[in-house]
Amino acid sequence: MTAHSIDKATTSDIVGQFGARPELLVQVLQTIVSRYGWVSETTIRQLATELNLSRADVHGVVNYYHDFRTEPPGRHIVKICQAEACQAMGSRALTDHARESLGASLHETSDDVTLEPVYCLGNCACAPAVMVNGKTYGRVDQDRFDALIGSMKEAASDGN
Ligand code: FES
Repeated sequence: MTAHSIDKATTSDIVGQFGARPELLVQVLQTIVSRYGWVSETTIRQLATELNLSRADVHGVVNYYHDFRTEPPGRHIVKICQAEACQAMGSRALTDHARESLGASLHETSDDVTLEPVYCLGNCACAPAVMVNGKTYGRVDQDRFDALIGSMKEAASDGN
């Protein structure tokens, strides 16, 4: 996924789709983040103005939900399931391994790879589950994780 800059007119359109109702700020943000992958400071200011909220109100909501990223995501998104079934099968240790090997904590980006937590990928029978660029993998141990990241990077360099 490539980070896009957020267009002012499109932001206004999205606000309009929700009737410029301040109580629908979360839905507005969800739409922006699902389209662009993040929300910039400029957009936060614009939303505050157009929804007649303070900037602190908008920041408060953005900071509350980790999904509302304020930095552009990397080209690759790696998600590790943190929900119960995966935790029981070692997803915490796998997350520690991922943090170390990718050089990024959860919600951070390093070398164009963004590491994210996710809460159930619907693959509990094959825990621990991981999603790499939208594709789900099950029973991922540290070696398999490294292999998946290796293939992901190989595919990216082949595509260049
Ligand atoms: S708990 Fe991890 S996939 Fe369901």
